[in-house]
Amino acid sequence: MGRLDGKVAIITGAARGQGAAEARLFAAEGARVVATDVLRTDGEALAAELGPAVTFLHQDVSSEAGWDEVVATTLERHGRLDVLVNNAAIYRSAPIAEHSLADYEQLVAINQIGVFLGMRAVVRPMKDAGGGSIVNISSGAGLRSTKYMIGYAATKFAVTGMTTAASSELARWRIRVNSVHPGVIETPMIAGNPPAMNEAMVRGTPLRRMGSVEEVAAAVLFLASDEASYVTGAHLTVDGGVSA
Ligand SMILES: NC(=O)c1ccc[n+]([C@@H]2O[C@H](COP(=O)([O-])OP(=O)(O)OC[C@H]3O[C@@H](n4cnc5c(N)ncnc54)[C@H](O)[C@@H]3O)[C@@H](O)[C@H]2O)c1
Repeated sequence: MGRLDGKVAIITGAARGQGAAEARLFAAEGARVVATDVLRTDGEALAAELGPAVTFLHQDVSSEAGWDEVVATTLERHGRLDVLVNNAAIYRSAPIAEHSLADYEQLVAINQIGVFLGMRAVVRPMKDAGGGSIVNISSGAGLRSTKYMIGYAATKFAVTGMTTAASSELARWRIRVNSVHPGVIETPMIAGNPPAMNEAMVRGTPLRRMGSVEEVAAAVLFLASDEASYVTGAHLTVDGGVSA
Protein backbone atom coordinates (compact mmCIF):
# COMPACT_ATOMS: atom_id res chain seq x y z
CA MET A 1 0.00 0.00 0.00
CA GLY A 2 1.30 3.45 -0.95
CA ARG A 3 1.42 6.32 1.50
CA LEU A 4 -0.48 8.56 -0.95
CA ASP A 5 -2.87 5.99 -2.44
CA GLY A 6 -5.92 7.63 -4.01
CA LYS A 7 -4.57 11.16 -3.64
CA VAL A 8 -4.16 13.74 -6.39
CA ALA A 9 -1.28 16.20 -6.08
CA ILE A 10 -0.10 19.29 -7.94
CA ILE A 11 3.66 19.92 -7.68
CA THR A 12 5.03 23.16 -9.14
CA GLY A 13 8.56 23.54 -10.44
CA ALA A 14 8.63 19.78 -10.95
CA ALA A 15 10.62 19.52 -14.17
CA ARG A 16 13.90 19.10 -12.30
CA GLY A 17 15.56 19.33 -8.89
CA GLN A 18 13.54 18.79 -5.74
CA GLY A 19 10.16 19.05 -7.51
CA ALA A 20 11.07 16.20 -9.88
CA ALA A 21 12.18 14.05 -6.92
CA GLU A 22 8.85 14.75 -5.20
CA ALA A 23 6.90 13.82 -8.36
CA ARG A 24 8.86 10.55 -8.56
CA LEU A 25 8.34 9.69 -4.88
CA PHE A 26 4.66 10.70 -4.81
CA ALA A 27 3.95 8.53 -7.87
CA ALA A 28 5.80 5.59 -6.28
CA GLU A 29 3.60 6.05 -3.19
CA GLY A 30 0.37 5.81 -5.19
CA ALA A 31 -0.51 9.44 -5.98
CA ARG A 32 -1.61 10.81 -9.31
CA VAL A 33 0.61 13.81 -9.89
CA VAL A 34 0.17 16.92 -12.00
CA ALA A 35 3.70 18.25 -12.41
CA THR A 36 4.02 21.82 -13.63
CA ASP A 37 6.92 24.02 -14.69
CA VAL A 38 8.06 26.60 -17.21
CA LEU A 39 10.61 24.04 -18.52
CA ARG A 40 8.46 22.16 -21.02
CA THR A 41 11.04 19.73 -22.45
CA ASP A 42 12.31 18.56 -19.05
CA GLY A 43 8.78 18.33 -17.65
CA GLU A 44 7.48 16.28 -20.56
CA ALA A 45 10.51 13.95 -20.37
CA LEU A 46 9.89 13.35 -16.65
CA ALA A 47 6.20 12.59 -17.23
CA ALA A 48 7.08 10.19 -20.08
CA GLU A 49 9.59 8.41 -17.81
CA LEU A 50 7.21 8.10 -14.84
CA GLY A 51 4.20 6.82 -16.82
CA PRO A 52 0.47 7.54 -16.58
CA ALA A 53 0.49 8.51 -12.87
CA VAL A 54 2.33 11.73 -13.74
CA THR A 55 1.17 14.32 -16.24
CA PHE A 56 2.98 17.53 -17.11
CA LEU A 57 1.40 20.95 -17.60
CA HIS A 58 3.26 24.07 -18.65
CA GLN A 59 2.70 26.73 -15.98
CA ASP A 60 4.22 30.02 -14.90
CA VAL A 61 3.25 30.17 -11.23
CA SER A 62 3.23 33.97 -11.26
CA SER A 63 0.28 34.02 -13.69
CA GLU A 64 -3.17 34.22 -12.09
CA ALA A 65 -4.91 32.83 -15.19
CA GLY A 66 -2.41 29.97 -15.34
CA TRP A 67 -3.46 28.78 -11.88
CA ASP A 68 -7.16 28.65 -12.87
CA GLU A 69 -6.19 26.52 -15.85
CA VAL A 70 -3.98 24.10 -13.88
CA VAL A 71 -6.59 23.51 -11.19
CA ALA A 72 -9.43 23.15 -13.74
CA THR A 73 -7.41 20.64 -15.79
CA THR A 74 -6.48 18.66 -12.66
CA LEU A 75 -10.13 18.42 -11.62
CA GLU A 76 -11.24 17.49 -15.14
CA ARG A 77 -8.66 14.69 -15.36
CA HIS A 78 -8.76 13.36 -11.82
CA GLY A 79 -12.00 14.63 -10.25
CA ARG A 80 -10.37 15.81 -7.01
CA LEU A 81 -7.37 17.58 -5.51
CA ASP A 82 -5.76 16.61 -2.20
CA VAL A 83 -2.20 18.00 -2.16
CA LEU A 84 -0.43 21.11 -3.42
CA VAL A 85 3.35 21.42 -3.22
CA ASN A 86 4.33 25.04 -3.89
CA ASN A 87 7.92 24.26 -4.88
CA ALA A 88 8.69 26.48 -7.90
CA ALA A 89 11.07 29.34 -7.23
CA ILE A 90 14.01 31.26 -8.58
CA TYR A 91 17.17 32.32 -6.78
CA ARG A 92 19.17 35.52 -7.11
CA SER A 93 22.16 36.48 -4.97
CA ALA A 94 23.77 39.92 -4.76
CA PRO A 95 24.96 42.40 -2.14
CA ILE A 96 22.12 44.79 -1.24
CA ALA A 97 23.75 47.78 -2.91
CA GLU A 98 23.97 45.85 -6.19
CA HIS A 99 20.61 44.04 -6.14
CA SER A 100 18.53 45.24 -9.09
CA LEU A 101 14.90 46.19 -8.66
CA ALA A 102 14.03 44.02 -11.65
CA ASP A 103 15.49 40.93 -9.90
CA TYR A 104 13.72 41.85 -6.64
CA GLU A 105 10.38 42.19 -8.43
CA GLN A 106 10.85 38.93 -10.32
CA LEU A 107 11.65 37.11 -7.06
CA VAL A 108 8.46 38.50 -5.48
CA ALA A 109 6.35 37.60 -8.54
CA ILE A 110 7.46 33.96 -8.68
CA ASN A 111 8.49 32.98 -5.14
CA GLN A 112 5.90 34.95 -3.16
CA ILE A 113 2.92 35.79 -5.39
CA GLY A 114 3.19 32.34 -7.00
CA VAL A 115 2.71 30.69 -3.59
CA PHE A 116 -0.17 33.00 -2.68
CA LEU A 117 -1.95 32.30 -6.00
CA GLY A 118 -1.40 28.56 -5.58
CA MET A 119 -2.86 28.43 -2.08
CA ARG A 120 -5.79 30.59 -3.12
CA ALA A 121 -6.55 28.41 -6.15
CA VAL A 122 -6.77 25.13 -4.21
CA VAL A 123 -8.92 26.18 -1.26
CA ARG A 124 -12.23 25.47 -2.97
CA PRO A 125 -11.36 22.02 -4.40
CA MET A 126 -9.75 20.98 -1.10
CA LYS A 127 -12.86 22.05 0.80
CA ASP A 128 -14.88 19.97 -1.68
CA ALA A 129 -12.57 16.98 -1.06
CA GLY A 130 -13.14 17.30 2.70
CA GLY A 131 -9.59 18.48 3.43
CA GLY A 132 -6.12 18.62 1.97
CA SER A 133 -2.45 19.33 2.49
CA ILE A 134 -0.51 22.32 1.23
CA VAL A 135 3.28 22.11 1.49
CA ASN A 136 5.10 25.37 0.81
CA ILE A 137 8.80 25.12 0.06
CA SER A 138 10.46 28.00 1.87
CA SER A 139 14.17 27.87 2.77
CA GLY A 140 16.63 28.33 5.59
CA ALA A 141 16.61 31.86 4.16
CA GLY A 142 12.98 32.09 5.27
CA LEU A 143 13.85 31.47 8.94
CA ARG A 144 17.24 32.94 9.73
CA SER A 145 19.88 35.37 8.55
CA THR A 146 21.54 34.76 5.18
CA LYS A 147 24.03 37.06 3.44
CA TYR A 148 23.67 38.38 -0.12
CA MET A 149 20.09 37.20 -0.49
CA ILE A 150 18.02 40.28 0.32
CA GLY A 151 15.36 39.64 -2.32
CA TYR A 152 15.31 35.85 -2.07
CA ALA A 153 15.17 36.00 1.75
CA ALA A 154 12.29 38.50 1.65
CA THR A 155 10.23 36.12 -0.48
CA LYS A 156 11.09 33.06 1.61
CA PHE A 157 10.16 34.82 4.87
CA ALA A 158 6.90 35.71 3.10
CA VAL A 159 6.32 32.01 2.36
CA THR A 160 6.93 31.18 6.03
CA GLY A 161 4.48 33.90 7.10
CA MET A 162 1.81 32.92 4.59
CA THR A 163 2.10 29.31 5.78
CA THR A 164 1.44 30.39 9.37
CA ALA A 165 -1.48 32.63 8.39
CA ALA A 166 -3.10 30.07 6.09
CA SER A 167 -2.68 27.17 8.53
CA SER A 168 -4.85 28.79 11.19
CA GLU A 169 -7.43 30.03 8.71
CA LEU A 170 -7.86 26.77 6.79
CA ALA A 171 -7.73 24.28 9.67
CA ARG A 172 -11.52 24.38 10.10
CA TRP A 173 -11.83 22.74 6.65
CA ARG A 174 -9.17 20.16 7.51
CA ILE A 175 -6.74 21.78 5.09
CA ARG A 176 -3.25 21.51 6.62
CA VAL A 177 -0.58 24.03 5.62
CA ASN A 178 3.09 23.46 6.44
CA SER A 179 6.42 24.72 5.16
CA VAL A 180 9.67 22.90 4.45
CA HIS A 181 12.99 24.72 4.84
CA PRO A 182 15.79 23.07 2.89
CA GLY A 183 19.41 23.91 3.62
CA VAL A 184 22.07 23.50 0.93
CA ILE A 185 20.60 21.00 -1.52
CA GLU A 186 22.49 19.81 -4.58
CA THR A 187 20.33 21.04 -7.48
CA PRO A 188 20.73 23.28 -10.53
CA MET A 189 19.52 26.22 -8.37
CA ILE A 190 22.81 26.55 -6.53
CA ALA A 191 25.07 25.18 -9.26
CA GLY A 192 25.70 28.74 -10.46
CA ASN A 193 26.99 29.96 -7.08
CA PRO A 194 30.73 30.57 -6.81
CA PRO A 195 32.14 27.24 -5.50
CA ALA A 196 33.58 29.09 -2.47
CA MET A 197 30.08 30.20 -1.48
CA ASN A 198 28.68 26.65 -1.56
CA GLU A 199 31.76 25.33 0.27
CA ALA A 200 31.29 27.94 2.99
CA MET A 201 27.63 26.92 3.35
CA VAL A 202 28.63 23.26 3.69
CA ARG A 203 31.25 24.18 6.32
CA GLY A 204 28.47 25.93 8.26
CA THR A 205 26.32 22.78 8.12
CA PRO A 206 26.74 20.47 11.14
CA LEU A 207 26.29 17.34 8.97
CA ARG A 208 29.08 18.74 6.74
CA ARG A 209 27.57 17.92 3.35
CA MET A 210 24.91 19.08 0.94
CA GLY A 211 21.49 17.46 1.16
CA SER A 212 19.99 15.42 -1.67
CA VAL A 213 16.69 16.00 -3.43
CA GLU A 214 15.48 12.64 -2.08
CA GLU A 215 16.07 13.78 1.50
CA VAL A 216 13.85 16.83 0.97
CA ALA A 217 11.23 14.80 -0.91
CA ALA A 218 10.92 12.40 2.04
CA ALA A 219 9.97 15.31 4.34
CA VAL A 220 7.49 16.69 1.81
CA LEU A 221 5.92 13.24 1.43
CA PHE A 222 5.39 13.01 5.19
CA LEU A 223 3.63 16.38 5.33
CA ALA A 224 1.53 15.57 2.25
CA SER A 225 0.40 12.21 3.64
CA ASP A 226 -2.17 11.34 6.30
CA GLU A 227 0.72 10.40 8.60
CA ALA A 228 0.92 14.15 9.28
CA SER A 229 -2.80 14.42 10.02
CA TYR A 230 -2.18 16.40 13.25
CA VAL A 231 0.58 18.57 11.78
CA THR A 232 -0.30 22.03 10.55
CA GLY A 233 1.47 25.38 10.75
CA ALA A 234 4.82 23.59 11.13
CA HIS A 235 8.10 24.82 9.67
CA LEU A 236 10.16 21.70 9.03
CA THR A 237 13.88 22.22 8.48
CA VAL A 238 15.77 19.76 6.26
CA ASP A 239 19.13 21.44 6.53
CA GLY A 240 21.73 19.17 8.08
CA GLY A 241 21.39 20.97 11.39
CA VAL A 242 22.13 24.57 10.30
CA SER A 243 19.15 26.03 12.13
CA ALA A 244 20.15 24.35 15.37
N1 LIG B 1 18.75 24.01 -3.73
C1 LIG B 1 18.83 24.60 -2.57
O1 LIG B 1 19.91 24.65 -1.96
C2 LIG B 1 17.61 25.18 -1.91
C3 LIG B 1 17.74 25.64 -0.59
C4 LIG B 1 16.62 26.16 0.06
C5 LIG B 1 15.41 26.20 -0.60
N2 LIG B 1 15.31 25.77 -1.89
C6 LIG B 1 13.98 25.83 -2.50
O2 LIG B 1 13.64 24.55 -2.98
C7 LIG B 1 12.71 24.66 -4.06
C8 LIG B 1 13.16 23.81 -5.24
O3 LIG B 1 14.38 24.32 -5.76
P1 LIG B 1 15.51 23.40 -6.41
O4 LIG B 1 16.65 23.42 -5.51
O5 LIG B 1 14.93 22.10 -6.84
O6 LIG B 1 15.90 24.31 -7.68
P2 LIG B 1 15.66 24.14 -9.24
O7 LIG B 1 16.08 25.44 -9.83
O8 LIG B 1 16.29 22.90 -9.72
O9 LIG B 1 14.07 23.95 -9.35
C9 LIG B 1 13.17 25.02 -9.39
C10 LIG B 1 12.16 24.74 -10.46
O10 LIG B 1 11.21 25.82 -10.48
C11 LIG B 1 10.94 26.13 -11.84
N3 LIG B 1 10.44 27.49 -11.99
C12 LIG B 1 11.14 28.66 -11.93
N4 LIG B 1 10.34 29.69 -12.18
C13 LIG B 1 9.10 29.19 -12.40
C14 LIG B 1 7.84 29.77 -12.70
N5 LIG B 1 7.69 31.10 -12.87
N6 LIG B 1 6.76 28.95 -12.84
C15 LIG B 1 6.91 27.61 -12.71
N7 LIG B 1 8.07 27.01 -12.45
C16 LIG B 1 9.15 27.80 -12.30
C17 LIG B 1 12.29 25.93 -12.54
O11 LIG B 1 12.14 25.84 -13.94
C18 LIG B 1 12.80 24.68 -11.86
O12 LIG B 1 12.38 23.51 -12.54
C19 LIG B 1 12.62 26.16 -4.37
O13 LIG B 1 11.48 26.70 -3.72
C20 LIG B 1 13.88 26.71 -3.73
O14 LIG B 1 13.77 28.08 -3.42
C21 LIG B 1 16.39 25.27 -2.55
